[in-house]
Amino acid sequence: MSGTASRSVTITLDGSNKSSNLPLIQGTLGPAVADIRKLYADLGVFTYDPGYGATASCESKITYIDGDEGVLLYRGYPIEQLAEHSSFLEVCYLLQHGELPNAEQKDQFEKGVLRHTMLHEQIRQFYNGFRRDAHPMAVMCGVVGALSAFYHDSMDINDPAQRTISAFRLIAKVPTIAAWAHKYNVGQPFMYPRNDLSYAENFLYMFNAVPAEPYQVNPILARAMDLIMILHADHEQNASTSTVRLAGSTGANPFACIAAGIASLWGPAHGGANEAVLKMLQEIGHKSNIKEFLASVKDRNQHTRLMGFGHRVYKNYDPRAKIMQRTCHEVLGELGINDPLLDLAMEMEKIALSDPYFVDRKLYPNVDFYSGIILRAMGFPTSMFTALFAVSRTVGWISQWEEMVKDPQQRIGRPRQVYTGAARRDFVPLAERR
Ligand code: CMC
Repeated sequence: MSGTASRSVTITLDGSNKSSNLPLIQGTLGPAVADIRKLYADLGVFTYDPGYGATASCESKITYIDGDEGVLLYRGYPIEQLAEHSSFLEVCYLLQHGELPNAEQKDQFEKGVLRHTMLHEQIRQFYNGFRRDAHPMAVMCGVVGALSAFYHDSMDINDPAQRTISAFRLIAKVPTIAAWAHKYNVGQPFMYPRNDLSYAENFLYMFNAVPAEPYQVNPILARAMDLIMILHADHEQNASTSTVRLAGSTGANPFACIAAGIASLWGPAHGGANEAVLKMLQEIGHKSNIKEFLASVKDRNQHTRLMGFGHRVYKNYDPRAKIMQRTCHEVLGELGINDPLLDLAMEMEKIALSDPYFVDRKLYPNVDFYSGIILRAMGFPTSMFTALFAVSRTVGWISQWEEMVKDPQQRIGRPRQVYTGAARRDFVPLAERR
């Protein structure tokens, strides 16, 4: 652990003379954490923290979030600056290597990624096993996991060179996998990647183009796609990243671990929220229905949530949502689209942010509140939204996975529990059971 520990916290067990003195570790930024590793040995008790709201599961140097202030840093750089000045592949390099690349490193890295964009031809056959209407996230879980059946040459996680090649393969191939999932849905031919295009351009090309006609990538869409990818590239120890780390802690190969991350991302409380936001806005339909909808959100019996609002860590405006909202206006304006759902979303935001229910609980728009509207304007079907999130987040997952593999403190992830089931009892023969 590289944080400093100049203070400590002492826990005393009521009714005994036992106590445990726990070092308080201070990272570069953020609150200190109590190192509880010897608590069980000292006092014979565990800690209980469902949902890990008060638990640091690892040490990391990649991403920092200040949820109270609404700050997001990748390797120390504010997301706003990266969104304005950087490109997605440059951000990928930054997340993986810790520093922004110089011109030569950038060139080498981009070539390294773009050289791996094709899928093995046998993977093409694999798609035929899915139903035509398979959700792109279902296809992505399956195909990304299946990559481990194709790259036996890069499965030794203790070899840095093999880890590097796996990272290149994953970052490079996920756009192809996602674009082909869509092509399979709509019954169009799969478009092979074009390595002369940028990462975002190539994705748009594989998604939109057909062999029968020339396809020009729209630069407005390419820049918006690149920006959306930057905003989603990493987000600290969220559910899917923690899933990747937990799967990887067993020594599982990176393709299997990223497939696990994709499965975790799919849920509506996480990456699936962008799809859910759009469905919610469509169902509400008109500004005049907002009040009624918000009443249902506040009624506990209805189990309705305002999708795209709230966050475990942000108790302030999600900085990504601010950029997304601005970009949404820019892109719709540049494309000449007047989407009533954008007006509806803005009105919803205004009403919710002045409603005591949301104010008291510090519920603000998160990244997903506006991303669905912009993705819809760019021509993506709702079912692709979370798949796009997965494409962008792959670099975050693989960077976090590699950081974990290299961490000398790393052990298999193995939480404990509070057991509240039956105490020990003897087997009852069938004839004696009531
Ligand atoms: N709508 C209405 N009430 C909410 C919402 C919401 N979106 N989010 C939280 N609350 C309420 C919740 O009912 C609870 O109220 P009470 O104290 O009266 O019981 C309080 O706020 C705290 O909520 P929580 O469920 O304990 O908070 P959490 O940190 O466990 O959940 C969350 C975080 C993101 C899962 C949740 O806010 C949520 O379900 N939001 C909607 C889904 C969403 O937009 N997810 C995307 C997250 S950002 C992108 C990503 O991570 O993938």
